Amino acid sequence: MLIRFIVLFSLLLSSAAAHSAADSYTYANYQQVTVKNLHLDLTINFEQKTLTGFADLQLNWLDSSATAIYLDTRDLLIDRVYAKTSAGSWQKVPFSLAARDAVLGSKLTIRPAFNAQTLRIYYSSTPEASGLQWLTPAQTASKTTPFMFSQNQAIHARSWMPIQDTPAVRLTYSARIQTIDSVLVVMSAPNDPTTARDGDYQFSMPQPIPAYLIAIAAGNLQFKAMSDETGVYAEPYILDSAAAEFASTQAMIDATEQLYGDYRWGRYDLLILPPSFPFGGMENPVLSFITPTVVAGDGSLVSLIAHELAHSWSGNLVTNASWRDLWLNEGFTSYVENRIMEQVFGIDRAVMEQALAVQALKDELTTLAANDSILHIDLQGRDPDDAFSGVPYTKGQLFLMFLEQQFGRDKFDPFVRQYFNDNAFQSIDTKTFVTYLDKNLLQKYPDIVSLDEAKNWIYQPGLPASTPQPQSDAFNRVQQQANNWLAKSTELAALSTANWTVHEWLYFINNLPLTISPEQMVNLDATFKLTKSTNSEIAHAWYLLALKTGYQHINNQLQQYLISIGRRKLIIPLYKQLATTPDGLAFARAVYEKARPGYHPLAQGSVDEILK
Ligand code: BES
Ligand code: ZN
Repeated sequence: MLIRFIVLFSLLLSSAAAHSAADSYTYANYQQVTVKNLHLDLTINFEQKTLTGFADLQLNWLDSSATAIYLDTRDLLIDRVYAKTSAGSWQKVPFSLAARDAVLGSKLTIRPAFNAQTLRIYYSSTPEASGLQWLTPAQTASKTTPFMFSQNQAIHARSWMPIQDTPAVRLTYSARIQTIDSVLVVMSAPNDPTTARDGDYQFSMPQPIPAYLIAIAAGNLQFKAMSDETGVYAEPYILDSAAAEFASTQAMIDATEQLYGDYRWGRYDLLILPPSFPFGGMENPVLSFITPTVVAGDGSLVSLIAHELAHSWSGNLVTNASWRDLWLNEGFTSYVENRIMEQVFGIDRAVMEQALAVQALKDELTTLAANDSILHIDLQGRDPDDAFSGVPYTKGQLFLMFLEQQFGRDKFDPFVRQYFNDNAFQSIDTKTFVTYLDKNLLQKYPDIVSLDEAKNWIYQPGLPASTPQPQSDAFNRVQQQANNWLAKSTELAALSTANWTVHEWLYFINNLPLTISPEQMVNLDATFKLTKSTNSEIAHAWYLLALKTGYQHINNQLQQYLISIGRRKLIIPLYKQLATTPDGLAFARAVYEKARPGYHPLAQGSVDEILK
């Protein structure tokens, strides 16, 4: 009877846990025990492409009947495990490593004989680590020093540390990292720009963060201050230009604090990565990781900095509890990013950026399954990397713009500010958000937006009829110019393009009809030198148009582009387009053979899939 009761009770418990949207991308039994602090003691070995040493995990047992802790690992070599006794000595404990699952990796089971407070795991990463990229000196700009960096989001932390790799669990961490002394190591923890370059570095992150925000990079890095509290780490070749490009960072922080409350992380620095960095940016706390492809020379692509900075509120302070809830991170961040851009650079530019994003989303929606256009996405066991799209970003942003328009900024801004404050250092799921929204906005100001309407945005596919439609006067003028040329009433050279911003060029290129003739493409290129554009976004848009319209004169430049850049957003659409014709596919495969060794494992995975 008692046993039956216990079984029934635990069934109830587990269904309750399932209902509170447990993260299905972790093996961790984090309802029973959580890692509250991590200490890493690792040596970076560039020759072997490994991180080797130990991890101390401080545990918080929530369920005293639990006898095991399950951790996430992928391609790690686990050497031995110790548990610290109450007397303070280390006792060896058994562990087992399960077979590797293609998405989740290998479950590490540790059964300490007692509810140990601290475990020490001796381990090594392997060169296959999906979350690390290793560059030889020859693959770096300075050619003298190797480079290594991590990219944990979504589930790659487990490829270089045994951890509860779920955004539902937050932990503080510290680290001692040793390496060759020509290399500076930085982490997503307070960094001291004046630290001695002796190959032995210490870090301590006092604020609890999820594992996907633990980050490391090592290379020939120099530091340049942009203001008292902001600066840039980069290889020397790009240090000055990056610091100049991102000089508005402090103004962005000031603007965000005014809108949404204090920046809670101390300093805010940027790390400029090698061009193989697979993303535009990654919001590692205190130290955003940034692609060099946004160092355009004219500040035209700095919305990326606004975006990564915005994550210091949406994502890093208030965190999605699982990857199904990614829109809570990225939708809020895209919205906040645009508010920052408006504040710092004016409404015209902010609206242009909205319009470009909405257009990109609408294009993408035509290629996505209906289910994948739901904000609270059903990942269906796929690798979160494979279900990545613009939906959590731009549909999420549009939902928040919709609320802003309906309630007005005088009500909506304080709501968002309070949301960040009330949920600071928490991980929340979509359901918790809906409850919070209902109580603190929808019901507080009744009869403006109904709960059903809000739920529609979150749980239904596609874009609702109430979707905001950003209208840019500048883009309307560009469209007019383009129409004049296409209708042959104006020569290209006579179009008033002299004052066009990068955004206007992007709009122009993206909206040219695919029926444009080869002569018109030649004419465009001769007049505006688009194939030779040094702006990574303009070049991307132009190459894509050229591929779609069969304009071949880009091939040399395109090859150069695909070899020198590894940012997925810029290269994947080009490979996909190339793969649609036999000639294009042959060209893509030849280029990729040269490009692949320089790509990050994530980019290699995506392109392998396209060209296979
Ligand atoms: N956190 C993301 C990058 C990310 C998302 C990595 C999901 C892995 C899984 C980062 O903040 C981001 O959104 N980067 C964008 C930039 C942006 C301006 C839309 C990018 O890399 O393009
Ligand atoms: Zn983001």
